Amino acid sequence: MRKPMPIDESYRFDEGLLISTTDLQGIITYANRKFCEVSGYHKNELKNKNHHIVRHPDMPKELFQKLWETIHSKREWAGLIKNLRKDGRYYWVYTHITPLFFNNRVYGYTAINRPASSHEIEEASLKYAQMLQQENIQKAI
Ligand SMILES: Cc1cc2nc3c(=O)[nH]c(=O)nc-3n(C[C@H](O)[C@H](O)[C@H](O)COP(=O)(O)O)c2cc1C
Repeated sequence: MRKPMPIDESYRFDEGLLISTTDLQGIITYANRKFCEVSGYHKNELKNKNHHIVRHPDMPKELFQKLWETIHSKREWAGLIKNLRKDGRYYWVYTHITPLFFNNRVYGYTAINRPASSHEIEEASLKYAQMLQQENIQKAI
């Protein structure tokens, strides 16, 4: 599936929770109705795709590296994520990712996303833009 072209327009998301579960690789095994509504994808388009399907190019790589390091060490990760809808618009979420255990072994992850506040979005936009700039400078050297 081709990635949509980002358009600099936000999609308003003020209430409800986006819930998804993934396997150990981040492949989506379940997405609730709100996730479909906000991301703009049909359930069938999300199932068996990497969560990367909603990755926005404004998000720094380092953030996802930290996210994976944290959940690989069986800890929870929480933070702000800017995501890309199917139609190219973006939406911000406050994400809480938790490892799922069975017999003491992690078999997947669950993500619960609530709407991000304007203050959180303002802070994260600034921070992520700086991180991305650093990454681009490193790439150029
Ligand atoms: C449970 C779970 C939820 C995730 N949610 C998101 C998300 O909302 N947006 C996102 O871009 N990546 C999310 N990721 C991380 C993606 O799997 C992926 O690592 C990220 O989009 C970076 O993609 P890339 O490594 O291909 O550049 C999630 C991962 C897990 C395990």
